Amino acid sequence: MDIAIDLGSDRTRVFLENKGIVLNEASVVTFDVDTGEIYAVGDEAYKMIGKTPAGIRAMHPLDGGVIAQPELVEDMVAILLKEVCTAKIVMPRVVTSIPCDVTEVEKRAVVNAVSSIGVRKVYLIESPKAASLGCGIDIMGPHGVLIADIGSGTADIAVLSLGGISVCKSVKHAGAAMDDEIVKYIRKKYNLIIGTNMAEACKKEVGCVKVPVEPKTFKVKGRDAVSGLPRFVEVGYAEIKPVIEETALEIVTAIKDVLESTPPELIGDIYSDGIILTGGLAKLTGFARMISEATKLKVRVHKAAADCVITGCGKAIEYIATADKADSSGFSPLISVN
Ligand SMILES: Nc1ncnc2c1ncn2[C@@H]1O[C@H](COP(=O)(O)OP(=O)(O)OP(=O)(O)O)[C@@H](O)[C@H]1O
Ligand SMILES: [Mg+2]
Repeated sequence: MDIAIDLGSDRTRVFLENKGIVLNEASVVTFDVDTGEIYAVGDEAYKMIGKTPAGIRAMHPLDGGVIAQPELVEDMVAILLKEVCTAKIVMPRVVTSIPCDVTEVEKRAVVNAVSSIGVRKVYLIESPKAASLGCGIDIMGPHGVLIADIGSGTADIAVLSLGGISVCKSVKHAGAAMDDEIVKYIRKKYNLIIGTNMAEACKKEVGCVKVPVEPKTFKVKGRDAVSGLPRFVEVGYAEIKPVIEETALEIVTAIKDVLESTPPELIGDIYSDGIILTGGLAKLTGFARMISEATKLKVRVHKAAADCVITGCGKAIEYIATADKADSSGFSPLISVN
């Protein structure tokens, strides 16, 4: 049985052949700083962020879509996979996604992390390719598709055609950068210290780049920087919009840059079909509208936006045989062997 893994900066997802998505957990590890002993991984570790005693840390070992702490990622992958892989899965072949402009060193780190569980072969696929497969789009034909996978640590934007990438750009500021901006803003404006998990919850509730008509507020709870006592403030859409807008604009600019570099024949296809958004941050209130207004194109958010990459990695399992054959001829259009 073959498996697919999407090692995201925010979440790790696993797909098993014939079963679909069997795991979707936070990419977080809690460990002892001195001994390196692992206390928890996944959603359990996520709950511990900012709550650990001295000497223990809970952190995301991936940043900007790439591996920042290789040993921690290896441990995390091994523990998470043990939960879902039965004894029947021995030395599987693994398809895994990578951002579109990673270095050879970053690529190797992903292959090593995945290989540590004992695999036969690792196949890599760039996130936008996986995302479009996951959306059910035929990317093998001579038709241009513009897709932006906007996650936590990276926004990967690419124009695809004939199973390959024609133009791409990767922005290393996405959902997590917005959370950091919210933490800084709440500290500066209200003298209230909050953690990134609280900031993320605030972004999901009242984060927006276009203010909706319906008002909504969110109670941001934290510790008063002066008194040290617990306190909360209530914030709404209009207040959070300017805090996260700059990061959103950076992504919009990158989409426009990709459009500017797209060959004219493919632009025609994109003009008729519009832009497809995937990734968790694609669900941010008003983001699709903001991109549509800036590019004058139709923008669609896939209904299972955050799962498109893993679903696509799962579908790419079908291309393993082609990749193996192409490997011996030195050419592989869809997934590459490592
Ligand atoms: N409804 C929502 N509104 C706003 N942001 C959201 C929403 N749902 C998820 N997010 C954000 O989307 C991001 C996670 O998206 P995703 O799961 O695609 O990331 P990832 O694949 O783990 O990371 P990456 O691909 O960048 O390495 C987080 O920053 C999360 O806060
Ligand atoms: Mg992702």
